[in-house]
Amino acid sequence: MRGPQDEAPHFEALFGRPPKVRARAPGRVNLIGEHTDYNGGFVLPMAIPQQTEVVLAPREDRQVRAFSANLGAAGKVDTYELGQEKAGKGWLDYVQGVTRVLRDEGHALGGFDLWLRSDVPLGSGLSSSAALEVALLRGLRECFGLKLDDVRIALLGQKVECDFVGAPVGVMDQMASSLAQGGAALFLDTRSLQYERVPLPTQVEPIVINSGVTHSHAGGDYRVRRAECERAAKLLGVEQLRDLPDAELPRALALPEPLGRRVRHVLTENARVLDTVRALRAGDLAALGPLLYASHASQRDDYEVSVPEIDLLVDLAREEPDVLGARLTGGGFGGSVVMLARSGKSADAARRIATRYGERAAPKATVLVPQTTPST
Ligand code: ADP
Ligand code: GAL
Repeated sequence: MRGPQDEAPHFEALFGRPPKVRARAPGRVNLIGEHTDYNGGFVLPMAIPQQTEVVLAPREDRQVRAFSANLGAAGKVDTYELGQEKAGKGWLDYVQGVTRVLRDEGHALGGFDLWLRSDVPLGSGLSSSAALEVALLRGLRECFGLKLDDVRIALLGQKVECDFVGAPVGVMDQMASSLAQGGAALFLDTRSLQYERVPLPTQVEPIVINSGVTHSHAGGDYRVRRAECERAAKLLGVEQLRDLPDAELPRALALPEPLGRRVRHVLTENARVLDTVRALRAGDLAALGPLLYASHASQRDDYEVSVPEIDLLVDLAREEPDVLGARLTGGGFGGSVVMLARSGKSADAARRIATRYGERAAPKATVLVPQTTPST
């Protein structure tokens, strides 16, 4: 897929010298387990083929000069001085946040020139921001010989979002971008950070369709949901909703609206992650679809994070006999839908769904998985 990044100048044209380091990190799609991570629960994301690439060269001084090809030919080189990171500079906050958290943790950094590009669509629920953070942290690890393992990279990326950008996210996206591999899902306990890679059975393959409705997590709605969960946990006397036994659900449902429904989503969604992992391991295809559709209904009705365009994509999926199940993926309020389809059938089904969506919705849907044009 060609985009503004293909028109933009490259590293050497911008900085007048060749780069030293290249690093990449993928976007992610979450198969199931939504809004469970900041409640200490379970998630099941996978890497997508779309990636963010960073190209770097160290400098002799403490300047950072950064350029994103996604901003196209009109983009400019933004600069700041290490130690002078100040939030409020748009996309550059992700770069400034990375150097700030690294310095806060005592890592020795010098200045650098940075060029980046991504074919993860921005603000579409597929974690372009985590891909940027993880790719940049990988690049800086190599450039400056930093001692960072992959879990540490994920935790630093999350810190960038929470402490610098101001988006109070959980740890799923960065863990997925840093640790998910190939076609396997990453079954992650977000509290202990223990994870296992769970391959998809050969009979199924994922579909990911971007609804074209963008979101921003630094905005209010995500923050409100998180605050509602924290309030419910406090009222129910548990540290996090993960700690609430299922038998306590009736007590939760007696809380003031909408807290009970928020709790019901988190408890049932955690259970659905465990059931999905069991079904994947057992190759129990019949169990997978109902779990995905139930997750979507719970997000739509109890957690109220869906929008009509996303519901339309899920409804269109139901008309496809080779699609087993579908649901909103990511933070919500727009973004993308993930589906599981019978192997060999996903490309045609996805194309039909995107076409029918185009006949009924204003934004254009984009099929990201299966990928029809190779990622560069
Ligand atoms: P998501 O992570 O789901 O794509 P977010 O709203 O969390 O959505 O992050 C999107 C933001 O991340 C963009 O608005 C932009 O500021 C920044 N971003 C991500 N990738 C790039 C990129 N390649 N170039 C410039 N900014 C980027
Ligand atoms: C994401 C957020 C994740 C997770 C998800 C909802 O966008 O970054 O941490 O909370 O929303 O499951």
